[in-house]
Amino acid sequence: MPSRRPNFFYHLHPPTIPEREARFRYTFGLGGISVFLFLVLAVTGLLLAFFYIPTPDNAFPSLQVITFQVPFGWLVRNLHYWGAQAMVVAVALHLLRVVFTGAYKPPRQINYLIGLALLVGVLLLNFTGYVLRWDDGTRWALVVGTNLVKETPFVGAALYDAIVGGTSVGPATTIRFYAWHILGLAVPAFFLIGWHAFKVRRDGGISHRLRDGGHDSRIPRAQLVRTETLAMLIVMAALTALSVLAPAPLGARADLPVRPDKAQAPWFFLWVQALLRSIPAVWAGVLIPLGLLLVLGLVPYAIDRQAGGVAEWFNREGRAAQTVTVLMFVGLVVLTLIEIGQ
Ligand code: HEM
Repeated sequence: MPSRRPNFFYHLHPPTIPEREARFRYTFGLGGISVFLFLVLAVTGLLLAFFYIPTPDNAFPSLQVITFQVPFGWLVRNLHYWGAQAMVVAVALHLLRVVFTGAYKPPRQINYLIGLALLVGVLLLNFTGYVLRWDDGTRWALVVGTNLVKETPFVGAALYDAIVGGTSVGPATTIRFYAWHILGLAVPAFFLIGWHAFKVRRDGGISHRLRDGGHDSRIPRAQLVRTETLAMLIVMAALTALSVLAPAPLGARADLPVRPDKAQAPWFFLWVQALLRSIPAVWAGVLIPLGLLLVLGLVPYAIDRQAGGVAEWFNREGRAAQTVTVLMFVGLVVLTLIEIGQ
């Protein structure tokens, strides 16, 4: 048989894979689904870029053109929107799966941190994309959200300038957000995802505990590819159904100067908006989010330092890490629900 040159695909899909590692009920395919969603976002984003005009005067009208005039523009835009929301959900669930199965333990701590960087990247990508809509629904993000950056100790003003393109929201803001969205976030995320996936195999494949005798049955690559293809088809069908049934929001144009009235945070930052009602902005918008990230980052280093017990859902050794993570997620969901009820 002719030997194949090693490539990235074969690195991720060796000829045989431990059966347990490939079992859908172990990972729920959430990492792979996140990769697929990123690809959908990259393709639809590229198509949108041909028509989107990143200036305060033209951003909103260009989205109207995409939605109502460009052939299938509505479908491409809706797929991009729903793909982005699904990505936040898939990545958050993937993180929970990793924590609950103890997959962050040695030798996977670094890949866990790469994953955390990707989580931040996914949230910022969604946030910057949300602002690009430039309609009245994005006023909170544009004014309140960006002002939170100013609260960052020491570097707040410089950071705000780098993100917004001046000392307040103005003519340069749209192109800045556009540049961040594509060059500052999507392109680095592409390479980071490649590294993350590469490291999964470098770290010995997906974490799994060997059966009693130290053996595990193996399945051929083709079986994994079949499962992955099926998962991609199902995700694509769901995204298409959502895109046909529920169009991406497009309100009324937000003119300069943008005011924060009647504004709402994007759904994944509603918990920040809830906190802002009762505590100072520096805590709600900077210190608490950074603190939560730090706690998650400490999971493999301080909260659960034991190397054993990998690859069991709800493994006993990881109870502390699981409890901390659940409390955090429950807190964020409760705050979000409170804010929705306001
Ligand atoms: C853009 C976001 C992300 C993408 C595309 C992604 C992709 C993947 C893929 C394809 C896998 C292998 C299959 C699987 O486990 O389902 C994986 C595994 C892994 N991911 Fe992610 N991931 C992302 C975010 C995260 C986050 C937020 C974390 C945790 C903080 C994380 C930590 C890990 C770890 C530790 C593994 C190894 C799991 C194991 O060995 O069982 N990833 N990721």
